[in-house]
Amino acid sequence: MNNQKKILITGGAGFIGSHVVRRFVKEYPQYSIFNLDKLTYAGNLENLTDIENAPNYTFVKGDITDEVFIAELFEKHKFDGVIHLAAESHVDRSILFPLEFLKTNILGTAILLEAFKKFGNISNGLFYHISTDEVYGELENEGKFVETTPYSPNSPYSASKASSDHFVRAYHRTFGIPVVVSNCSNNYGSHQFPEKLIPLFINNIQNNLPLPVYGKGVNVRDWLWVEDHARAIDVIFHKGKIGETYNIGGNNEWKNIDLVHLMCKLMDEKLARKPHSSEKLITYVKDRAGHDFRYAIDSTKLMTELGWKPSVNFEQGLSKTIDWYLNNLQWLNNVTSGAYKNYYKVQYSNR
Ligand code: NAD
Ligand code: TYD
Repeated sequence: MNNQKKILITGGAGFIGSHVVRRFVKEYPQYSIFNLDKLTYAGNLENLTDIENAPNYTFVKGDITDEVFIAELFEKHKFDGVIHLAAESHVDRSILFPLEFLKTNILGTAILLEAFKKFGNISNGLFYHISTDEVYGELENEGKFVETTPYSPNSPYSASKASSDHFVRAYHRTFGIPVVVSNCSNNYGSHQFPEKLIPLFINNIQNNLPLPVYGKGVNVRDWLWVEDHARAIDVIFHKGKIGETYNIGGNNEWKNIDLVHLMCKLMDEKLARKPHSSEKLITYVKDRAGHDFRYAIDSTKLMTELGWKPSVNFEQGLSKTIDWYLNNLQWLNNVTSGAYKNYYKVQYSNR
């Protein structure tokens, strides 16, 4: 991409989006970065205070499912690039409210594609869709997802992301829109809303609350440091081949219960608690409906073709992540007051 481009990042006030926005604003002063976010429960402008006054940054509050608003925004700015992260992103919420996921993730993506087709730079630009490895379904003990693994989504969340991936693919094939898609494994790091496993358990350990492990805790996830994901997005945006898909993973598989024990150990040390105190909080609860057993990503294509690799050792990354939450208790308190309490009650009481 050339200089002086207008880049729209959607969902830039969320967890991964805020890391992507920060990276692009700092690394590419020659780009005008627009961050479009509805500021749902998961979107938080406190995630971006360090760059909010940067000369190449503009925040726009808006909803990707608002067709008229999106068309007007694209007509006005004629974006060269779109990096699309806005989504409903939590599997447990997709079990509670599937239609919200259908609307935001499928309809919202299609509305953005349509606006980019009409008003975007389709001759020399890029529509980059950020997706998940969950579209591939679940693995047994062996094997990893590759880019050609057939889609087999199991949750309303992954079904909605799979569908949005297909719309992106169809706009490339049918209309010639320049697109790229990446499918990433579970992210961890600073500024993650405490509904997902790692920040939820950090918050609960800090507050001496039960740690609700679903089922027997034997499910496996491949964890990637969020800054490594943001760097992969940068590399794919600039060097990825149009029409291609890239898998992004940490090569870092953990059984949930082993990860929870590691978190308890690190938190005991950091909070100067007696060894093995926090693990007493572990409580096995009813399993998640349709719970995928294992995810594991093969990132060979991204590593060999575009030269990316994960940079952070997991124990160091997890330790840094815990430090961030413990040093930002006000952030944690702000996001866990209000509506969070109600969600927590619905999700975890009577389980
Ligand atoms: P998040 O829930 O933290 O943030 C989502 C952001 O999207 C929020 O800022 C929210 O306000 C915004 N948003 C939601 N609905 C919107 C709408 N209708 N219009 C405009 N903005 C809206 O999510 P995240 O974990 O940062 O995930 C970002 C993207 O990465 C998602 O597309 C997700 O599917 C994908 N992804 C996430 C992970 C992960 O581990 N978190 C892994 C792989 C892929
Ligand atoms: P999560 O962070 O929700 O990510 P995803 O479901 O998208 O992989 O969950 C990670 C794993 O942790 C998953 O196997 C479900 C499990 N889990 C629990 O055991 N307890 C919890 O309270 C949560 C939120 C997740």
